[in-house]
Amino acid sequence: MLQIEKKFSEYFPGQPVIITSPGRINIIGEHTDYNNGYVLPAAIDKAISVAVNKRDDGIIKIYSTQYNELYESSVAALVKSNLNWVNYIIGVADQLLKKDFVITGFNMVVDGDVPLGAGLSSSAAVECAVVFALNELFELKLDKLEMVKLAQKAEHEFAGVMCGIMDMFASMYGKAEYAIKLDCRSLEYEYVPLKLPGHKLLLFNTNVKHNLASSAYNERRAQCESGVALVAKQIASVKSLRDVTAQMLEQYVLPADELIYKRCNYVVQENLRLLQACENLNKGNLWELGKNMFDTHRGLSEDYEVSCKELDLLVSLVKNNKAVLGARMMGGGFGGCTLNLVNENEIERLVNEVGEKYLLQTGLSCSYYVVAVGGGTSVAG
Ligand code: GLA
Repeated sequence: MLQIEKKFSEYFPGQPVIITSPGRINIIGEHTDYNNGYVLPAAIDKAISVAVNKRDDGIIKIYSTQYNELYESSVAALVKSNLNWVNYIIGVADQLLKKDFVITGFNMVVDGDVPLGAGLSSSAAVECAVVFALNELFELKLDKLEMVKLAQKAEHEFAGVMCGIMDMFASMYGKAEYAIKLDCRSLEYEYVPLKLPGHKLLLFNTNVKHNLASSAYNERRAQCESGVALVAKQIASVKSLRDVTAQMLEQYVLPADELIYKRCNYVVQENLRLLQACENLNKGNLWELGKNMFDTHRGLSEDYEVSCKELDLLVSLVKNNKAVLGARMMGGGFGGCTLNLVNENEIERLVNEVGEKYLLQTGLSCSYYVVAVGGGTSVAG
């Protein structure tokens, strides 16, 4: 019996279905998803699991093993909870109700090993697990893309972050050994083999999450929209930064607003960089791919300004290390992890060295994870 099944039987009667949904990394393509650009995420072998069965009395009961808290509400009276973890779950139920699906109540246990607040999208993993579970339980017949969109909307409305589609898409569509090249404008995607012979992807966790994260995220999104509006005044066919070139930015945005120009130019360059990075990955040019990653970090830190001193430190500590081909902050920013492309024989030495220096300079210890790329949301077992 799985651990989560045991927990479930301690709290609830009956047999549950169990769904697991992974966290994600992103090789390159940061802050591009909500600008209709490209992203290159992959699901990881750390996941959130939910065990769930149906009730017919209109009650929702949820127990979180990570928080050791029990939540209860009636379906008819779902409102934002002051237990933060609950909102990612009832936010999904709320979206389903708004679409007139009938949810008669459920019992649920949530568990998982995606580190929380590390920028590995534990929240998207929860949302995808829950929407997948309720889709099974109540036979809603939603397809994967509908579930992804619903999970994203739940995050917008219940968690208040105007996130793009990348995290949910990666969690739902993940495939072992592959990254997903997703075009966020057309939602066409392609599985790209993540062939890194002799190398591994290594995450360093700053173990900080600055408060600024969600307000700055929404602010960046608004700044990109202002840039688009400036260009669209001149060229009506422009709908998003995906339709904008560096030259258009120089012509129409730079004279009007330098800060908005910097933000938008980062995004336009990042889309081009992603295309180069995919080519480098396909051709096995790993040093070039690593260079793309360092360039992304510079852009995120200096132009998009979503990094922080801990992330910058972790990148600068590996920058001239021969064992590291590339490194960059990953995800929304202001904390969480850096992603490092490293020589697999040097990992132990590297983590000791970086860990020591990070502690010395910040007073914090950093954790690390060697990433394995796993499959997407599915029924467990
Ligand atoms: C967060 C959001 C994603 C994406 C990244 C930045 O993870 O949830 O949609 O915008 O930040 O690339």
